[in-house]
Amino acid sequence: MLSGKKVRLRAYRREDLPLALEFINDPEVKTNLVVGIPFPFKPEEEEKWYESISAAKPESYSFAIETLDEPRYIGGCGLNKVDWKNRVAQVGIFIGLELFRGQGYGTDAMNLLLRFIFDQMNMNKVKLEVFSFNARAIKSYEKCGFVKEGVMRQELFRDGKYHDIVTMGILREEWEKVQSAK
Ligand SMILES: CC(C)(COP(=O)(O)OP(=O)(O)OC[C@H]1O[C@@H](n2cnc3c(N)ncnc32)[C@H](O)[C@@H]1OP(=O)(O)O)[C@@H](O)C(=O)NCCC(=O)NCCS
Repeated sequence: MLSGKKVRLRAYRREDLPLALEFINDPEVKTNLVVGIPFPFKPEEEEKWYESISAAKPESYSFAIETLDEPRYIGGCGLNKVDWKNRVAQVGIFIGLELFRGQGYGTDAMNLLLRFIFDQMNMNKVKLEVFSFNARAIKSYEKCGFVKEGVMRQELFRDGKYHDIVTMGILREEWEKVQSAK
């Protein structure tokens, strides 16, 4: 378990699943997280995803995000892809409850995820993709030390129009600088 200032990252539990399904089907989460068609998941699909999380499969490491005071499951974060040879990990994150967005929980959780990836998995770089209209997420990632690396023009069709997808990344040496400045 990893603890920060506002949240801890912990393993998912079976009892999280009903809420996890609600979170992943939340329109704000779907709109900002899913590249494909934003169609709701079924409980069976959520169950399958839960079963796929395994310590033996690092590319499936998914953490539940829980508030520190009065522990409450509010979202999730984890790795989507791990490139062991080049030591690059791709990550994703969501805060499932609007009530908890925009209050520093997501940034704290991402900082913990970065610590896990750099300190425990010995990756050299962490990257992510974010939709160009997601200003809150971009700001949060910049606060963690991510920088914009590129723009994939018109890679997303959402709500009747095309949008760009922004790629962001943080190198180990940049993350270490952020840590020593704290
Ligand atoms: C993206 C997400 C994880 C960020 O977590 P969060 O807890 O909401 O973000 P934080 O409060 O830690 O940081 C957001 C920052 O952006 C700022 N912000 C909020 N809305 C903003 C906007 N419209 N434009 C620019 N900045 C904005 C906040 O003020 C805050 O900065 P500050 O701490 O300096 O004031 C969360 O909002 C979320 O899950 N959203 C829905 C799903 C999603 O977008 N997932 C990411 C897909 S790439």
